Amino acid sequence: MTLIKPLQIASFTAPNNLLLAPMAGITDTPFRILCLQGGAGIVCAEMVSAHALHYGNPKSGRMLQVAKKEHPVSMQIFGADEQTIAEAAKNAEAQGADLIDLNAGCPVKKINKAGAGCVLMKDELKLGRLIEAAVKAVKIPVTLKTRIALNHKELLAVRMAKLAQNAGASAITLHARAAVDVHAGAPNIEAVAEACLAVNIPVIGNGGVVNASVAKQFLEAGCAGVMIGRGAVGNPFIFQDIQDEIAGKPVRPLTASKKLEIYLALIRENVSYYGERIGVNRSRKTAGYWINNFPGAADVRGRFVRLDTLQDIEKLFADVRVSL
Ligand SMILES: Cc1cc2nc3c(=O)[nH]c(=O)nc-3n(C[C@H](O)[C@H](O)[C@H](O)COP(=O)(O)O)c2cc1C
Repeated sequence: MTLIKPLQIASFTAPNNLLLAPMAGITDTPFRILCLQGGAGIVCAEMVSAHALHYGNPKSGRMLQVAKKEHPVSMQIFGADEQTIAEAAKNAEAQGADLIDLNAGCPVKKINKAGAGCVLMKDELKLGRLIEAAVKAVKIPVTLKTRIALNHKELLAVRMAKLAQNAGASAITLHARAAVDVHAGAPNIEAVAEACLAVNIPVIGNGGVVNASVAKQFLEAGCAGVMIGRGAVGNPFIFQDIQDEIAGKPVRPLTASKKLEIYLALIRENVSYYGERIGVNRSRKTAGYWINNFPGAADVRGRFVRLDTLQDIEKLFADVRVSL
């Protein structure tokens, strides 16, 4: 059985079935481009508020922008109101998104209080209407990202998959953890497998994919694709590594020095995209993923997060790489 193959989502074909997960504060344009270079078949943007877009929030507007080099890209929107969801979907399509993804899995309180994210799993009528509103508003495929459950009492994976299909979504991503677990614990791949059997639309499995072995488990369970979140932060080449490993090719883990080199390239891209202050600030947030696999890494991280200029960061990284 060929596990790695092009991914067909309605009329759209991605070159392979390994996707970068949407991650707020992380999967922006510079990181998305890096992951495409690292072999991702589709990259997903961090979630954007449909409500904020409606009120012209400039930060949210910028988050919707698509660079020429970052296709295929899926723009994720969240919200609780059909009209603003339809508007946001149209807006993302006009900006050049290849796919629109609707978020119904986020457990963050602020988002849930506004009626968006995982609380939509409790209100199937409303969730169905939101999907339909997005589907009607655009020509590109609309997908849903949700979870297998809200809690440990009841699995909702099959219900969510059927709901997505019936409302016109072209694919569903299932995060194989309950909302109460946020991002912790082993993925429940069996729950995702049940959903795969229940629908005809592609089911994309997500949660805990950090190597080829977990990716294989999802694909062998019937998933059309696998979505990778934290496994790609600090290792954007994980997509190529998984493809190589599944093809039986040797895979060498990134050395500490190579990781620093890739991180520095990303920091430079962040600085050129956002300007020095915001670019350096954003880069700092993922330091723990990049500066971690050598003696003294914690000390280097401590020094790094106090630096404000690209020049100082370049000097620190050059010194550290010489010592490795
Ligand atoms: C920092 C962070 C931000 C996230 N932001 C989003 C988001 O904007 N939209 C979304 O659907 N999921 C978001 N997630 C969830 C991921 O897309 C993914 O479902 C989750 O991390 C599980 O995958 P993993 O185990 O491969 O990391 C976020 C996760 C993390 C760690």
